[in-house]
Amino acid sequence: MKARSVVALTGAGISAESGVPTFRGGGSAVWKGMPFDQISSARMVRENLPEVWEWFDYRRGVLRDCRPNPAHFALAEWKRRFAEFTLVTQNVDDLHRAAGSDDVIELHGNIQRSRCTRCGKSFDIAGIVPHEPDRCDDCGSKVRPDVVLFGEMLPYDAFETAERMARKCDLFFVIGTSALVYPAVGLAEIAKHHGAFLVEINPEETPMSDVCDVTIRAKAGEFVPLL
Ligand code: OAD
Ligand code: ZN
Repeated sequence: MKARSVVALTGAGISAESGVPTFRGGGSAVWKGMPFDQISSARMVRENLPEVWEWFDYRRGVLRDCRPNPAHFALAEWKRRFAEFTLVTQNVDDLHRAAGSDDVIELHGNIQRSRCTRCGKSFDIAGIVPHEPDRCDDCGSKVRPDVVLFGEMLPYDAFETAERMARKCDLFFVIGTSALVYPAVGLAEIAKHHGAFLVEINPEETPMSDVCDVTIRAKAGEFVPLL
């Protein structure tokens, strides 16, 4: 069978070979003694925005030296390869775009953007570490990272489009995600439920492994370009 509509859902693991630390596994991310789901939370934005920015600016500093790897580049080519291809990522690192994927569905936002806490105006802060401006030039309110934090909703349009494509695809790849964070991983279940063939690429077992039709225990950067 030849797949017509293909979806790939990526997570932190696809960027591991680019030097971006993952959140879980190999020592989970901790910042000043705080687990990442505490520092990356809606509550921290309300209570201690400067600390949130310190953690995000630190990560943005690390990212400055990171380049896309062969997995990102291979996925950027898939647009030409399949009649319909949708790239959905949980990553905020912007590496898919850097590799040439121009219409990535970013479920969790993008670390290279900030947004006003009051009027929502967004700012491109790529390459600016520490971030600037610190206040919105329209309304003067503080800006925050334009990412989805624990305790927040996913951007409605992004999730809705991803869900629609998951429902109609016939081949769905789950690449480099621990498959623990909903609703993102729910997309794979939706695809499966609607008859898609599921393929997982991850060196470790995940809760998704049993649900997938094929699981490939390999590193994304080594395996995805071979597909
Ligand atoms: P995790 O850090 O939870 O999981 C990374 C996964 O990548 C693990 O399953 C690893 O086994 C796998 N992995 C490691 N190296 C790999 C490689 N070279 N190739 C392929 N896979 C590899 O990251 P996510 O699943 O993306 O949310 O985490 C989901 C969300 O949790 C993130 O988007 C983030 C976090 O909270 C937000 O920032 C909102
Ligand atoms: Zn504003």
